[in-house]
Amino acid sequence: MPTKVVLIPGDGIGAEISQAVQQILKAAGADIEWIPAEAGQKAYEEQGNPLPEKTVELIDQHKLVLKGPLATPVGSGFRSVNVSLRQKFDLFANIRPAKSLPGVDSHFTHVDLVTFRENTQGLYIGQERYVNDEKSHAESIAVVTREASDRIIRAAFEYAVQKGRKKVTLVHKANILKLTTGLFLEVGRDVAKDFPDIEFNDMIVDNCAMQMVLRPEQFDIIVTTNLFGDILSDLASGLVGGLGVTGSANMGKTHAMFEAVHGSAPDIVGRNIANPTALLFSAIMLLEHLEQFEVAERIREAVNKVLINKKVCTPDLGGRGSTQSYADAVCDEIKQKMK
Ligand SMILES: NC(=O)c1ccc[n+]([C@@H]2O[C@H](COP(=O)([O-])OP(=O)(O)OC[C@H]3O[C@@H](n4cnc5c(N)ncnc54)[C@H](O)[C@@H]3O)[C@@H](O)[C@H]2O)c1
Repeated sequence: MPTKVVLIPGDGIGAEISQAVQQILKAAGADIEWIPAEAGQKAYEEQGNPLPEKTVELIDQHKLVLKGPLATPVGSGFRSVNVSLRQKFDLFANIRPAKSLPGVDSHFTHVDLVTFRENTQGLYIGQERYVNDEKSHAESIAVVTREASDRIIRAAFEYAVQKGRKKVTLVHKANILKLTTGLFLEVGRDVAKDFPDIEFNDMIVDNCAMQMVLRPEQFDIIVTTNLFGDILSDLASGLVGGLGVTGSANMGKTHAMFEAVHGSAPDIVGRNIANPTALLFSAIMLLEHLEQFEVAERIREAVNKVLINKKVCTPDLGGRGSTQSYADAVCDEIKQKMK
């Protein structure tokens, strides 16, 4: 019986890249049945709700999601559906690997780091308000709890043990935000004692941003609070070629959602030039979660070969190809390997 996975193609380029990813997973023999669902700007325009009840029910039932990008209005309008989904299904760990890839131009060649971002708290709890009627003064509340800090930091260490990684770096701003990120650091120091074989260090976020750009190879696993994780994981993507080539997983105790980290790319929508690699890497993380390791590895190997062929890659990778030529080339590689 194939595993049922809810597929939310999302807004903008979402339909194009989801189609390419489905094509590749089918060619590789993934044992998955896709359950289509809607969310985002399109769902809002058509159904008056960016997160329709039907979609929530499907996710609740099937517990696994592959999701394309969802547009979020800036400043006003509806709240981010991404944030709502993470909170609704308690997807507390946002895991984003960033690894140097063959054929992908970047300033570095030996980056291999994974960011663990706390996904449910910090400044992202949505408690913001204007303090006065003139709306000239706004404030926002950040929440950090011992329990939520413990589970994300423990998840980072457990991942290190499972994947044979060596070091966890906790990133904070405890010199200034002494209570919130100070608590996160305190919990981290306690959790680290349970993992004596994994090296542990901590770093202030501004220094970390500089160190990542100067010497990214010093990082193995980074664990941090919501806002810092959001920014640093994008920075990490930039070290290996950008948002078009990094996948991510949002893991909870019962549900998991795998998603591309880039947005809906409204500037290139409908032009068949969107790069599906990020969503494909998220789908590989899904396959690994489903323990379909052979299928995952088959796709990864094919992608590594195709990325060096500029004729078929999308323009963001310096290629002269399209979404379709890239997907077809990955499928061809897979088929050759499976012969
Ligand atoms: N996880 C998500 O769903 C997510 C993440 C970020 C932004 N967004 C939303 O996306 C919308 C647009 O945001 P933005 O413009 O700031 O960021 P964006 O990631 O959509 O685009 C930034 C730049 O990267 C390019 N780009 C992004 N993905 C690409 C891909 N797969 N292939 C080739 N080029 C790609 C775009 O063409 C653009 O030039 C906003 O509504 C924002 O809220 C959603």
